[in-house]
Amino acid sequence: MADKAPYTVLARKYRPQTFDEVLAQDGVSQTLKNAISSKRIAHAYLFTGPRGVGKTTMARIFAKALNCAQGPTPKPCGKCDPCREIARSSSIDVLEMDAATHTQVEKVREVIIETVGLATNRDRYKVFVIDEAHMLSTAAFNALLKTLEEPPPHVVFILATTEAGKVPATIASRCQRFRFRPVDQETMVAHLGSLAKKEGMAVEDDAVETLARHAAGSLRDAVSLLDQAWTLSDKGVTAETIRRMFGLVPAELMLGLGEALLKRDVRVLAERLEAALAEGIDPGQLVRDLRESLHAVYLEKLGVRQAADRSWSRAAREVSSQGLGCLLQRINRIAEELKSTDSPRSVLELGLYGCLHEAADLAAWVERLEALEGRLGAVGAVEAGGQPRAGDSADGPGELEPAEASSGDEEVWRAVARSFKDRPILAEVLSHARPLTSPDGGWRLTFDREFDLEAAAKSLPAIEASLATILGKPVAVVVESGKGLPEASEAAEVPGPDDAGPAECVSESDVTASGEPASPLKKAEKILGGTVKFTKKK
Ligand SMILES: Nc1ncnc2c1ncn2[C@@H]1O[C@H](COP(=O)(O)OP(=O)(O)OP(=O)(O)O)[C@@H](O)[C@H]1O
Ligand SMILES: [Mg+2]
Ligand SMILES: [Zn+2]
Repeated sequence: MADKAPYTVLARKYRPQTFDEVLAQDGVSQTLKNAISSKRIAHAYLFTGPRGVGKTTMARIFAKALNCAQGPTPKPCGKCDPCREIARSSSIDVLEMDAATHTQVEKVREVIIETVGLATNRDRYKVFVIDEAHMLSTAAFNALLKTLEEPPPHVVFILATTEAGKVPATIASRCQRFRFRPVDQETMVAHLGSLAKKEGMAVEDDAVETLARHAAGSLRDAVSLLDQAWTLSDKGVTAETIRRMFGLVPAELMLGLGEALLKRDVRVLAERLEAALAEGIDPGQLVRDLRESLHAVYLEKLGVRQAADRSWSRAAREVSSQGLGCLLQRINRIAEELKSTDSPRSVLELGLYGCLHEAADLAAWVERLEALEGRLGAVGAVEAGGQPRAGDSADGPGELEPAEASSGDEEVWRAVARSFKDRPILAEVLSHARPLTSPDGGWRLTFDREFDLEAAAKSLPAIEASLATILGKPVAVVVESGKGLPEASEAAEVPGPDDAGPAECVSESDVTASGEPASPLKKAEKILGGTVKFTKKK
């Protein structure tokens, strides 16, 4: 464990001292270095960009480059008096002012008016670094403007601001402008990692990732947050330290919630939700956290990039990317609703249980459909045998209409033919059969062509086995020649339930031209009032 005696705050300790040490601002560094090398120094620079991305740092390095005893040089030595004083901000020729405070505004004006015309004390250039330049008063801007119109040759202004839009155009147009970018996640993670290593801090990778994400592009914020986390933790910085620091939902609780949602477990969800709310976790925070984790696994499912937290990937293993997409959309909606409610708790509960309902409904729905499909097969079997169907609707949708004589069989038969995908000739043969069921539950297959008849007869055991698997009971099959028999009516063309689409997402319903459902499946859809795609059965 490293010593925790007071030390220079990390952000200051690790302020880059050369152009090459400044991360993620290569364009700016390069242009400034070129300016020095080619001795084309402007009188005024305007550095714009988000907070904590290196503006002040770059201004100081530029000042060193101008005033270094070995310079002007793109590689200031860092050892001479001017370099060291500038690094400590104690140079009398490089003046840093923060325009954000009122007293400073007055001072800026004084300093500019009083000193700009004077010669430098020792150094080549007098450099004015004005931070938060957009905060300058009109009077200060006017003073500055006058100087910028007739700049003494040895004066350089560097204005830095996070709000470029608030700098008057009269000023901005007299400056050479540089845009600083937010620092990307990858660079931040690498920087924090190396910094922690140098400091002998034990920091988990997950913790670094979370820190960097929360810093949202500001490297100073990222470094300060690391510093803060280190002070807070006594055994090294874990992802949990960070979560506590940000008031995030504890990871384990969050994962439990996520799992309950993904597995549609009402009981566990209720339990976890209670626990989270009892801990005083903010509903908005909870939903944002949940969204972030689910989003990461969603991207992983799509093959965009791996989720950092493997336990979430495991939790979502059984869920399709479409399923996750639907869930994410709902969660987004909850986040939106939470913004404008006076009852966040109920919005949260309604929303989350709603996710579950929708998913559970669909699951139950598919189950019902599958059962129904099986039963329609049986109904077809009975009716084909000429027996009336009697009261078998006690535990199912009672308003089931009688199926057409053989359409249930057709459906089952297609499944049988498909089960011989790896025996294409037999599959083809079977597709020529006209299947009929007899009252005793046996199947009769009629073939018009001799070849088909023989081939089917040879594979009778396999056909019986397949049929038994599909119907869930042993079935006797006989084959016969259909020559001379009247043609069986053409069965309606039905899309097979064989695609691997997710059960969670719903598509348009198919109906025949008469507006009637075209198959038992479609009938069932009509009864249930929706549409279904089947997931592959294992
Ligand atoms: N591009 C960068 N490369 C390396 N370190 C950086 C960078 N940007 C910021 N830092 C770290 O953050 C600290 C503060 O950076 P700096 O003061 O230059 O930011 P800034 O852009 O001036 O921010 P503000 O707009 O808030 O004044 C530095 O001391 C350094 O530790
Ligand atoms: Mg600054
Ligand atoms: Zn030097």
